[in-house]
Amino acid sequence: MTHKYIIEHMETDLHEWCILEYSHIATFVFPPNLIITRLKDAEITELKKLQALDGTQLRRETVDETGIDKSKICLLHPNAEQQLEPEDGQTFDYFLFGGILGDDPPRDRTSELCPSAHATRHLGQLQMTTDTAINVTKKVIEDKVRLFDIPFIDFPEIVFDKNESVVMPFRYIAIPHTTKSTLQTTNNEIKQNMVPLLPTGMLELLKKDANEPLDL
Ligand SMILES: C[S@@+](CC[C@H](N)C(=O)[O-])C[C@H]1O[C@@H](n2cnc3c(N)ncnc32)[C@H](O)[C@@H]1O
Repeated sequence: MTHKYIIEHMETDLHEWCILEYSHIATFVFPPNLIITRLKDAEITELKKLQALDGTQLRRETVDETGIDKSKICLLHPNAEQQLEPEDGQTFDYFLFGGILGDDPPRDRTSELCPSAHATRHLGQLQMTTDTAINVTKKVIEDKVRLFDIPFIDFPEIVFDKNESVVMPFRYIAIPHTTKSTLQTTNNEIKQNMVPLLPTGMLELLKKDANEPLDL
């Protein structure tokens, strides 16, 4: 069964953050299986310029307006009662996500999407970025990896230099750092040094944002 991933774009603008996240998603979801809904004409024009999104379905309609059968759609929602399991891949054809930039504390805008799907599933209680949530969903339903077996990093601190760092208030997939050596923990366990999986260009964007003057 081919699964499709729908992002309902819910931000009023197409922030650089959204562009990096959407482009990242198209590196692990085959672009024709990625549908971004509720885009303005100017946003479609902007996204069409990106080679990374070549083949992605860019739509003006909301997910409701596409006419997709709601019983085939599963909404990924942090407040859902049931956790996503590999077996859900047999029940649903479409997995729906909010194209929402994370906020701290979470404002629960995902709930606005509840009428668009009959079923909801969670990926744990911690808020993930949209690209992380889609990557995790794909691992569970397509690779049949249970949530419990996916390595995560929660609230990573991104250090720019000795004076500047930012804590990201989200859960990310953990990947091994390729340049740093292994770490020895206090109980003598050797652990591979892990870093959060971020979209290409995100570190540079975070650094740029950190250096921008506050708009008071
Ligand atoms: C950054 S989150 C948005 C959370 C946000 N604070 C809100 O207003 O709902 C973007 C999307 O990723 C998905 N998501 C993130 N964390 C999740 C989790 N723990 N369980 C299920 N879905 C999650 C949801 O579809 C959500 O709309």
